[in-house]
Amino acid sequence: MASKLYIETYGCQMNFSDSEIVVSILKNHDFELVNDPKDATAIFINTCSIRDNAEKRVIKRLHNLNAYRKKRPDLIIGVLGCMAERVKESLFEEEKLGMRIDMIVGPDSYRDLPKLLESVEQGQKAINVILSNEETYADLMPVRYSSNNVSAFISIMRGCENFCSYCVVPYTRGKERSRDPKSIINEAKQLIDNGYREITLLGQNVNSYNWDNEIKFFHLLEKIASLSDLLRIRFATSHPKDLSNELVNVIAAYPNVCRSIHLPVQSGSNNILKKMNRKYTVESYLERIDYIKNKIPDCAISTDLITGFSGETEKDHNSTIDLMKKVKFDFAYMFKYSEREGTIAAKTFVDNVPENVKTERLEEIISLQQKFSKQSNEKDIGKVFEVLVEGHSKRSHKELMGRNSQNKVVIFGNNGKPPGEYLNVQIKECTSATLKGDVV
Ligand code: 5AD
Ligand code: SF4
Repeated sequence: MASKLYIETYGCQMNFSDSEIVVSILKNHDFELVNDPKDATAIFINTCSIRDNAEKRVIKRLHNLNAYRKKRPDLIIGVLGCMAERVKESLFEEEKLGMRIDMIVGPDSYRDLPKLLESVEQGQKAINVILSNEETYADLMPVRYSSNNVSAFISIMRGCENFCSYCVVPYTRGKERSRDPKSIINEAKQLIDNGYREITLLGQNVNSYNWDNEIKFFHLLEKIASLSDLLRIRFATSHPKDLSNELVNVIAAYPNVCRSIHLPVQSGSNNILKKMNRKYTVESYLERIDYIKNKIPDCAISTDLITGFSGETEKDHNSTIDLMKKVKFDFAYMFKYSEREGTIAAKTFVDNVPENVKTERLEEIISLQQKFSKQSNEKDIGKVFEVLVEGHSKRSHKELMGRNSQNKVVIFGNNGKPPGEYLNVQIKECTSATLKGDVV
C-alpha cells in the first residue's frame, strides 16, 4: 500500500515551490498525497524562520499535529525548510514539551527524503541539514499539487549571500546558486503546453541570477517572455542594488512581462539602511523608481518595510514616512523588526526599540500605506485592464477573480469564462485591496 503524505507550507513563495519539489520526489517513491492530516502516514511541515512569530506558529502547529499520533502511533512527523536548518537537532528536544519530531530536513536535502524516511521506519530519528553549493533541483519536475492550473512558480536560483544584517536567510538557505537556464526554459515550455498562462520566476534575489557569466536575469527573462504571447511572466524578489537598467528595458519591451515590480526598501533612513547592510541609499533607491516610472509609466511598485530596527529613532521613522509619501507604493508588506539569533544585527547591535514603539510605528505606516493603496486603486476607476481569469471569487460563485498586469486582484461578473482566459474588464469601484468591474 502506498504511504500517505500530508504537507503544510509556511512562509515565502520559495517554500511553496520547494514543497512541490518534495511531493515530486516522494511521488517517485510510492507516496500518495492526502489533503487531511488524519489520513496521513507522514506529515511534513515546510517551515519559515524569517521572524520569531513565524517559528512560534510552526511549533504550535506541530503540537496540534502530534495529537494524530494517538490513533496512529507509527505516524511520522517531519520538519522541513528554514526552521529545520536554523534550529537543527535541538528541535528534537521539543520532546521535553511532550511532542515528538521524527525527522529534520534542511532545504538542500530533499533528495535524501526517501532514505531518511526509511531510517525513521526502522525506528531511528533522521536528520539532514547539510547545505549545498550546487543543488538547484534542476532535473525535477515539481508536482503542482495545489495549483489553479493557471499560474505556477519556477524556482530559478537558491540561497542568498547579501547578508542584510537582520536576515536569517543566508544561514538557512546557504550560498547563492543559479539554475541551468535550459532546465528553466524546459519547465516553462511544459507549463505552457499544459495550459498554464502565468509563471512567477522565483529566487531570493533574482537580479543576481547568473549562469556562467553569460546569462544574466534580463537575458533569461527575455528568453521566457519570447516563448508565448499568451504567457504572463512575474518575478520575485528584486534587490534595489541589483535592479539594472537592462532589466527594466526588457520589462518595457515585452508587454507579457507584468507591470509590477516588488522592490523591498526596508527603511527610508540612510543610517538604518547602512546598519541593515542594504548597500543602497534612499537617493539611489528613488533614482531606480524614477527610471522604472519613466520607462514603464503604468508599472505598479510594491515594497517591504521593517519598523523598529536596532537604533531606529523617531527621525529615522519619519524618514521612512517621507519615503512612503514620495514613492506612494501601490502595495507594501510591513513588519516589526524581529531579532534573529546568529545574524550580524544580533551580534553587533542591541534590539533596543521598545515593543510598544515598534507597534506604534508599524500601525502608523500600515494606515498610511492603506491610504496610498486605496488612492492607487481609485486612479484605476474607469480604466480597462486585461485580466487573466484565475477562478471564482472567494465571496461568491456569481463572481470571477483574476489579476491585471499590475498584480491587482480584479473581481467581475461570472460570464462563464474558464480559468486561463484573458478578458478586458472596466473598473467601476474599488477598496484598498481589490478592484471591481464589468467585462467589456
Ligand atoms: N525582522 C522583521 N522582518 C524581516 N524581514 C526579513 N528579516 C526580518 C526580521 N528579522 C522582512 C524583510 C524582507 C521580508 C521577506 O521579510 O522586509 O524583505
Ligand atoms: Fe535576506 Fe537580504 Fe537576502 Fe533578502 S537579500 S533574503 S533580506 S539577506
